Amino acid sequence: MIDQKNVAEVVLDVIKGAGEFLCELSQSNFTVDFKSKTDMVTSADKAVEDYIVSRLQAEFPSFSVFSEEVGLLKADNTDFLWLIDPIDGTTNFVHGFLHYCVSIALTHQGTVILGAVNDPTRGEIFHALQGEGAYLNGNRISVSDTVSLSESLVVTGFTNADHPDNAANMRHFTRAVQACQAVRRTGSAALDLSNVACGRLDGYLQKGIDSYDIAAGCLIVKEAGGKVSNLDGHTFSLTSGEILATNGLIHAEMQRLTLDQQ
Ligand code: IPD
Ligand code: CA
Ligand code: CA
Repeated sequence: MIDQKNVAEVVLDVIKGAGEFLCELSQSNFTVDFKSKTDMVTSADKAVEDYIVSRLQAEFPSFSVFSEEVGLLKADNTDFLWLIDPIDGTTNFVHGFLHYCVSIALTHQGTVILGAVNDPTRGEIFHALQGEGAYLNGNRISVSDTVSLSESLVVTGFTNADHPDNAANMRHFTRAVQACQAVRRTGSAALDLSNVACGRLDGYLQKGIDSYDIAAGCLIVKEAGGKVSNLDGHTFSLTSGEILATNGLIHAEMQRLTLDQQ
């Protein structure tokens, strides 16, 4: 096995450096390309990804990598896999809307064992180690104690404009607006999860989401005492393409928003 605390120290240093680099790049003339009609990638996504991947590969040469822009980089050891989103919230980044982050997770045989999220514009680094709790800038965090949707501030997300999953996302959004105190759509899944973990938000729901968007945040929510599942409310798979993450107390009520026979 690995020394998880040692790996965490390296990851925290890498994600700190990546956040600083991203802040510099935000002030530069980065270029923007379109992967589809609404899905953008910038030269900053690629530069931050290069920075993270090269540093992690130098420290852990046998671990494999799956990162949003570069895809799968298989190494000798496929049990250990890094899941990286160099900028989660690229659309916000492109518009200069200060809500985006860097997300890095380490999985072992498909289970997330370490997760870190850096919000460089607020100077906030969230991290969690399996079985060791969740932290914000080194201080222990926990989910909210809100018990009902009517008192909850929840967040949802949408996938690319023309994706079929958005019909379900729209239905869930509409029901959430009716049932909750308020609903947000912030454009960064990793920050949505981190904010559920520290109790600023009570729940997050989305269909049409990738493993690198949610891997780090999922562990941070769980280690902060929250619950993470697929939209069925019980099982969870990182690669299912959907997520419901809450403080645990509103999980069943929020799950019911996803049922089509209401
Ligand atoms: C997106 C954000 C957004 C979520 C989208 C993701 P990107 O990631 O996490 O909140 O709703 O589904 O694609 O493209 O900014 O890395
Ligand atoms: Ca993302
Ligand atoms: Ca991204």
